[in-house]
Amino acid sequence: MNLFEFLSELIIATASRCLLGAEIRSKLDSSVAKLYSDLDGGFSSVASLAAWLLPAWVPLPSLIRRDRAHHALKRIFQEIIEARRKENRLNESDMLATFMTATYRNGTQLTDEQVSGMCIAMLLAGQHTSSTTSAWLGFFLCTSKQLKEKCRSEVRNVISDSLSYDNLKELVTLDHCLKETLRLRPPIMTLMRRCKKSFKVNNFVVPEGHIVCVSPTVNHILQEHWKDPEKFSPDRFESTKEGLPTAECNEGGGTNVKCGKYSYVPFGAGRHRCVGEMFAYLQIKTIWAVLLDELDFERDDLPAINYQTMIHTPLNPLVRYRRLKPSP
Ligand code: HEM
Repeated sequence: MNLFEFLSELIIATASRCLLGAEIRSKLDSSVAKLYSDLDGGFSSVASLAAWLLPAWVPLPSLIRRDRAHHALKRIFQEIIEARRKENRLNESDMLATFMTATYRNGTQLTDEQVSGMCIAMLLAGQHTSSTTSAWLGFFLCTSKQLKEKCRSEVRNVISDSLSYDNLKELVTLDHCLKETLRLRPPIMTLMRRCKKSFKVNNFVVPEGHIVCVSPTVNHILQEHWKDPEKFSPDRFESTKEGLPTAECNEGGGTNVKCGKYSYVPFGAGRHRCVGEMFAYLQIKTIWAVLLDELDFERDDLPAINYQTMIHTPLNPLVRYRRLKPSP
């Protein structure tokens, strides 16, 4: 089985239901999936590089498809928003409803265009980041039978009744494995900012207008902050362990003195820090809790990293699997 493809489908299905609502989820198998894929094509590394280097009017086929898909998706959202308003369905449990009823500080509501734009942004921001992370988590679990079994027995103990928002927090080993996956395979490898005002760091001056780049991939394996940085070692996130960084250190708020400020930044930092972090944890842990309970996965080695994609995906992402429970 291609684990990455399988998880990408699960991520888009669950994210579109939770964020965009039942209407979009029900169209996902047909029209919307094609529009989503065209929209996404505009963000491939080649298209992005071309968009960066060439003027905006250059009619690249992938960018034309992207813009058409963007308009079509917005029209679909417009219809859904209008139907919900007409039927007074404003308290649905999804992000679309949240945006439709949200107000700015001055009391004004978001326009329909802003609502649909936000929903599309949420879906795009969360899709590749979460599906790649889920896949790498699966591959890391395959490399350690002991860890995989520990996660599975924890899942079975915790969710003996049913999986809920509250008992998901009790899946501590799975949580640490996810954090460690994000340390060794942060999906966003470069965070970029334009320098608005020239400033000095040690002996270097960063001039105004220059682009400054930080790489979580590098921060996460700095010898001075991480013990055995290359090793997949989820228990380094146990808060009781001394001398090892804790998850809180990403904003410099960690209690551990050895943990450097910004040494752990898979979700970025500062004003533009990821707004989807909590949802990503919820979604990825839910998916893996169900998968570990129902299926077993095996693979002998870690896949190589595909450096051709903007988010570093696993190459040849195949696993063997078998059912542990009859399919429901
Ligand atoms: C494992 C999953 C995820 C990872 C590792 C991740 C990582 C990041 C990072 C590093 C940034 C900051 C980019 C920068 O500073 O330039 C970011 C921003 C953002 N993320 Fe995520 N993300 C994930 C999932 C999600 C999900 C599920 C959503 C939506 C539901 C989301 C929505 C956003 C948005 C809207 C921003 C822009 C925030 C802003 O500019 O103010 N992300 N994400």
